[in-house]
Amino acid sequence: MHQVGSPDRRPVSTTSAAYQRCIAPGCGATYDIAQIKVACDQCGGLLDVAYDWDRLAPPTALQELEQAWQFRRDPVCFSGVWRFHQLLPFAPRERLVTVGEGQTILQRADRLATLVGVKPGNLFLQYEGLNPSGSFKDNGMAAAFTHAALVGASSAACASTGNTSASLAMYAAVTQIMKAIIFVGSGKIAYGKLSQALEYGALTMQINGDFDDAMARVREVCEQMGIYLVNSVNPFRLEGQKTIMYRVLEWLNWQVPDWIVVPGGNLGNSSAFGKAFSELHALGLVDRIPRLAVINAAGANTLYELYERRGLRWNGGNVDQSIVRRYYEELDARSRKASTIASAIEIIRPVNLTKCLRALEVCQGVVREVTDQDILDAKARVGTSGIGCEPASAASVAGLHLLRRENVIGADDRVVCILTGHQLKDPTATVAYHTTDQDLFNRVLRNQGVMRASHANRAVSVANDRDEIIRAIRLYVHMNKH
Ligand code: F0G
Repeated sequence: MHQVGSPDRRPVSTTSAAYQRCIAPGCGATYDIAQIKVACDQCGGLLDVAYDWDRLAPPTALQELEQAWQFRRDPVCFSGVWRFHQLLPFAPRERLVTVGEGQTILQRADRLATLVGVKPGNLFLQYEGLNPSGSFKDNGMAAAFTHAALVGASSAACASTGNTSASLAMYAAVTQIMKAIIFVGSGKIAYGKLSQALEYGALTMQINGDFDDAMARVREVCEQMGIYLVNSVNPFRLEGQKTIMYRVLEWLNWQVPDWIVVPGGNLGNSSAFGKAFSELHALGLVDRIPRLAVINAAGANTLYELYERRGLRWNGGNVDQSIVRRYYEELDARSRKASTIASAIEIIRPVNLTKCLRALEVCQGVVREVTDQDILDAKARVGTSGIGCEPASAASVAGLHLLRRENVIGADDRVVCILTGHQLKDPTATVAYHTTDQDLFNRVLRNQGVMRASHANRAVSVANDRDEIIRAIRLYVHMNKH
């Protein structure tokens, strides 16, 4: 049964068929599921949650997973994460934590397809804004809270550009399993997200610095104080985020698309998607793996720089860390900080870099960077297609547009763009784009290098007069005749 209201803190059995394993093949150190770790003790590498599938009961066909729909009054079956429990079986069923995450839709977007040069019928938007806290983070938080409750943690922390903190604060408030402690860069968080952390009662600390600074601090503090870290460096978070791909496949009737396009920040999603597909393939549940496109904002383009310009590769696990070190030294020497209107992905030291390289290899991935101008123009177009998204999410659509122009993605390819966060998360950026107030435009966008709002839908000022209003409506109808 799900744990809302009655957390079960009995220690977990250590004979589980799930364990933690260092991702570096040359190391491969393993750790019990009951241990709290965000790095390998032997080599400092990232950890995976790994499974002895022979001792477990994965589905024999993906269609079997649809059976959970029949039992949707059971919160575990209702959850868009836990109805795929067989594919992330690190905790017993009766210990799973859910607040109803993962009720998302895959929206077919024909109009947008035409605008970006994809054949209508072939472009889909996976809208993760429908999650309880309004972003994809809830997928991972359900899994992280499940693990935290298993190991008896009483407080959890994260550094955040806003969505992780909103999600952590919500899960803490709903489940009462842990207290939430949040580190945000001062002035670096959109108001929609900050309002959530404050309202849900989290201890919210604004650190004088940006996300990368806050991330470094939260790791130190968590280690010193024994606080459970819920950033995506936590391998259990990524287990939950694998389910985004399962839901995409389910909506496509278990047909694998040609491309998944996702914004890249701390690189948790891209890493999780790669793991999801390599496991499905190894289990014989899919016969091919889609290609992955990870899209950076140009002002926070570490992955693009390292992967596309400097040739950094997973290379069977032998990642040339000297390339990474040299790049970070250059950033330090230039005092370069991340800077983009897409504040959710304003990150230049992504913690999941090596895992993402592995995903790029598994999925024959590509990486692109898009400007803030591209991101906001794409966001406006996503908005006119309905549902909408926050700026970082629109990087996926801007990236798709670029990859179509380059013909890396073909017009006939079937493409899924991940819209990671809700349209209402960052109203400032949206209003500034559509505004007639030049000062607001300059302060919020021009400063960030956005020069025009080509797809703006400007509000019309009309006198408080019936005839004037009727005239304005007639003009609008006339101008929008198809
Ligand atoms: N899109 C949104 C809306 C996000 O909030 C984030 C990350 C990303 C994309 C990037 O995802 O890290 O998996 O590559 N937000 C984090 C946060 C950093 O703190 O909320 P990623």
